[in-house]
Amino acid sequence: MTLSMPSLRDLFCLEGKVALVTGGAGYLGRAMSEALAELGARVVVASRNLEHCQEVASELGEGHLALRLDISSAESVRGVVAQVIGECGRVDILVNNAYSGPLKRIDETTEEDFAVSLANGVTSYFVAAQACWRFMRDHGGGSIINVASMYGIVGSYPDAYAGTEGCSPPNYHAAKGAVVHLTRHLAVYWAQDGVRVNCLSPGPFPHPSTEKTIPEMVQRLKTKSPMGRMGRRWEVKGAVALLASEAGSYITGHNLVVDGGWTAW
Ligand SMILES: NC(=O)c1ccc[n+]([C@@H]2O[C@H](COP(=O)([O-])OP(=O)(O)OC[C@H]3O[C@@H](n4cnc5c(N)ncnc54)[C@H](OP(=O)(O)O)[C@@H]3O)[C@@H](O)[C@H]2O)c1
Repeated sequence: MTLSMPSLRDLFCLEGKVALVTGGAGYLGRAMSEALAELGARVVVASRNLEHCQEVASELGEGHLALRLDISSAESVRGVVAQVIGECGRVDILVNNAYSGPLKRIDETTEEDFAVSLANGVTSYFVAAQACWRFMRDHGGGSIINVASMYGIVGSYPDAYAGTEGCSPPNYHAAKGAVVHLTRHLAVYWAQDGVRVNCLSPGPFPHPSTEKTIPEMVQRLKTKSPMGRMGRRWEVKGAVALLASEAGSYITGHNLVVDGGWTAW
């Protein structure tokens, strides 16, 4: 007797699902928004620049939405989750991807810089996750994806940045490390509610403009990667699809690293 199994096509299908992608019009966020839309989800693209979000939402196709969001305000984060539920009737997938924070060298970083990075990069992730979980636990579960970084797992190579305009600030490393661990904690608490919580940790995916503005840093970063190159933004699409969909239904509390082998040396 053969046991019937869902097909991969069915497992990855997101038709009927609603996904909120914070920073969904940004460099990597846009690739994540596209991945979820391609699989059939209705995507809500949210960040401070509403016009840019509207542009991306309309490029994704019909039915996608744009909302203004400021992750530095818990009120704004809760308000956006409420708006998604109000306008789309549900929220099944949350991608906590938006981040901005001070970028200074280690000898210039202040306690205020830490406060900003932790508020934007950790507290806002928790507030959004909690607001979505409250809905998801009563409506058949869901998937929460926190975007961390390879720099939430390992320290950086000081020589890659030395003498360039680039830097790898301590507040960023601290915030991303906190996201990786917060994810594990939420995953064990919310597993019983059918809510999976995972991390997606990109490796080096510098914006193409950085290749022009800080070429020596990008060149050095390439030498630190076993694959000898930087990530292409579409290379996060498969990871977000797996974590968001039923294809990842037994994966929770995981940190899916997409780094060309950077953390495997
Ligand atoms: N690119 C990489 O190499 C890399 C590597 C590891 C991890 N990551 C992580 O991947 C995520 C996306 O990074 P990215 O490279 O795509 O950066 P990005 O292009 O700068 O995108 C950041 C996004 O966050 C939004 N955002 C920033 N501050 C916000 C605020 N206060 N409220 C609401 N939205 C805000 C921005 O939109 P608005 O300006 O419109 O608000 C933008 O859409 C981040 O969490 C980043 O730490 C990136």
